[in-house]
Amino acid sequence: MATPLLALDSVTKEFGKIRAVDEVSLEIPVDEVTAVIGPNGAGKTTLFNLITGRYELTSGQIKLRGDRINGLEPQEIVQRGLARSFQITNFFPDLTALENVRLAAQAQNMELTPGALLSHHDQKSESKDAARAVLDRLDLLDIAQEPANSLSHGQQRHLEICIALACNPDVLVMDEPTAGMSPEETVETRELVEDLAEDITIVIIEHDMDVVMRVADRLAVMENGSLLTVGPPETVREDERVQQAYLGGETV
Ligand SMILES: Nc1ncnc2c1ncn2[C@@H]1O[C@H](COP(=O)(O)OP(=O)(O)O)[C@@H](O)[C@H]1O
Ligand SMILES: [Mg+2]
Repeated sequence: MATPLLALDSVTKEFGKIRAVDEVSLEIPVDEVTAVIGPNGAGKTTLFNLITGRYELTSGQIKLRGDRINGLEPQEIVQRGLARSFQITNFFPDLTALENVRLAAQAQNMELTPGALLSHHDQKSESKDAARAVLDRLDLLDIAQEPANSLSHGQQRHLEICIALACNPDVLVMDEPTAGMSPEETVETRELVEDLAEDITIVIIEHDMDVVMRVADRLAVMENGSLLTVGPPETVREDERVQQAYLGGETV
């Protein structure tokens, strides 16, 4: 097999006595959608925080295109091509949607200090074009000039995805992108993930099984910090251990 885009090797994270992530080894092939599923508390978000550099590993190693990324600052990891769709508080609420995406596009190419960001704020028309293109792709151009805090919940979540995309990632990591969404917004988001998957490798945590079964090429199932199994959705769905762990024996 060619070098996987992202490779986790015995990744472990302890919080005091809790082993939130326990020796997880997982290879993310290029151009696929890998969905990480598992019950609450399984360690999914912690795993994402390790991949994106927000937490330090207790032990193990994470490589992007064969180069170690654990130990790097989150922004350095973004610059190497791995972006995350942030939680809602991660945009500037009073700036417009366009300004938020534009700042992300600019931050990709410069030192991330407030002074640097502000001094370049009005200069870079290319970052504005890039930002408009991203907003257009997510059908958000008509709200480009609205302040981020005036958008609906679904639009804000999509804005977060735009901010991640503005960093031009090879891998997009998404933690429950449909959380809190209406059924209509959930369908829109699923279609969006399917569209993005055409040219970006995606790792997604998602608990809506309808979304998971439609978008994922592979499922990675976590339980108690460990990886229970990895495989194609149809195979994993039939796995008895998965049904026990994830749904208490109910059929997925
Ligand atoms: N910052 C933290 N400090 C201490 N314990 C944590 C922290 N983050 C997560 N945990 C614990 O790690 C375990 C896994 O949590 P989490 O990764 O959030 O699971 P999931 O996203 O699968 O629901 C849980 O027992 C949780 O309480
Ligand atoms: Mg979580």
